[in-house]
Amino acid sequence: MSSEPLVAASSYLVEQKYQDYTPEQHGVWAELVRRRRPQVDAHACREYLEGYKIIDLQDDRLPNLCAISEKIRPRTGWSATPVSGFLPGDAFFEMLSTRMFPTTTWLRSHDSLEYIPEPDIFHDVFGHVPMHAHRVFADFLQHYGSICARVKNPDVLERLGRLFWYTVEFGLIRQDGKIKVYGSGVISSHKECTNVIDEGCEIRDFSLEEVLATPVKVDELQKRLFAIESFDQIYEAVQKAEKLLVPD
Ligand SMILES: [Fe+2]
Repeated sequence: MSSEPLVAASSYLVEQKYQDYTPEQHGVWAELVRRRRPQVDAHACREYLEGYKIIDLQDDRLPNLCAISEKIRPRTGWSATPVSGFLPGDAFFEMLSTRMFPTTTWLRSHDSLEYIPEPDIFHDVFGHVPMHAHRVFADFLQHYGSICARVKNPDVLERLGRLFWYTVEFGLIRQDGKIKVYGSGVISSHKECTNVIDEGCEIRDFSLEEVLATPVKVDELQKRLFAIESFDQIYEAVQKAEKLLVPD
């Protein structure tokens, strides 16, 4: 874990002005959680559900990022660090490599509960942050960031982006003979999660080679996703990807 100050990401750091959230915004959060909880309770993997309890998310109030970070940091060294919005790659990877998860503070409006073009605090915190309390996932994500931070070649970054997409964003895992979800895009979206549960998409056994060969489609329901057997598998995959794509 690095204690160096951020360079590329420094200008994107903001404070979460928690007291500025309105009762209506807390109401939108509560509505989003109320809509997602039944499916997530039934179909999220156990590590996500444990993380959800650890970070002590409140169903009826927007999350306070400082309080959440205090819960995670002693376990895995990660924090949910507030940022101003979408980050360019170098800033994003720098933060991941230092175990800071770039977390937006804005929340979608009541008119766009299901779809938003860019991540908001619901996607980031409800979707991503519970997994950061899990040791192996946390180490995987940090290592992923540290590799990408060294890459300048856009083709290599695009291929590494596929690994991120099919794990962090849309990852599935087999547990107790069933498919469970851990990727933020599936956790936070009713349509994407239903697409997995109702077998709308093909689910293949995770293989790094196949993941790296499967382009990302951001603007449609996922047609093919990958299920791991354990989180050790993605930790090993990121090390393998480093040897394959980012040799010293
Ligand atoms: Fe995300």
